[in-house]
Amino acid sequence: MSFRVTCAAAVVTALAGLTFLPFAASAQEAVVKERQDLMKSFGDWSKTLAAAAKGAPLDAAVVKAAEDISAGMKKLPAQFPVGTGSDKMKNRAKPEIWADMAKFTAYANDGAAAYGALAASAKGGNAAAYQAAFTKAAASCAACHKDYRGPAVK
Ligand code: HEC
Repeated sequence: MSFRVTCAAAVVTALAGLTFLPFAASAQEAVVKERQDLMKSFGDWSKTLAAAAKGAPLDAAVVKAAEDISAGMKKLPAQFPVGTGSDKMKNRAKPEIWADMAKFTAYANDGAAAYGALAASAKGGNAAAYQAAFTKAAASCAACHKDYRGPAVK
C-alpha cells in the first residue's frame, strides 16, 4: 500500500517537473501581455491629456494621468526581456530593440521626463504652456514607435 502511495507521489513529482518546460514560454507571454496592457493604459491616459490640451480643465485627473505615464515609462525597459521580440512570438516589438537596448532605454527615459514635465505644467495651470508640453510628450511615444513598434498583428 505505502509503496503505491510513494509511486503515486513520484509520478506527481515527475509531472510537476515536466510542466516546467512550457512555463518558460508562458512567462514570456505574460510579460508581453503586461507591457501591451501598460501601453493600452498609456493610450487611455493620453485621451485625458489630449482633452486638456483642447481646453478641458487642468485638474487632478490630468496631473495623475501624466504622472502615471511617467512612472510607466520608467518600467518599460524591464518589460522587454531578451527573447520577447516579434521574431520569437506574436507581438509588435521589433527585434531591433535588442540590437541597441541603450537607445530603447533612452527613448523610455525621454518619455518619463517629458510626461513628468507635463504633470508639472498641468499643476502650473497655464494652458499654453501645457499645450506645448503635451505636444512634446506625445512626440516621445511616436519617436519610439517609429523605430521599434512593428505593424499591428491579427
Ligand atoms: C520606449 C519605446 C516606447 C515608448 C516610449 C512608447 N511605446 Fe507604445 N509600444 C512600444 C512597443 C515596442 C510596442 C509593441 C509592444 C508589443 O507588441 O509587445 C508598443 C505598443 C503600443 C500600443 C499597442 C498595444 C497593443 O495592444 O498591442 C499602444 C496603444 C501604445 N504602444 C501606446 C503608447 C503611448 C500612448 C505612448 C506614450 C505615452 C507609448 N506607447 C510610448 C514602444 C514604446
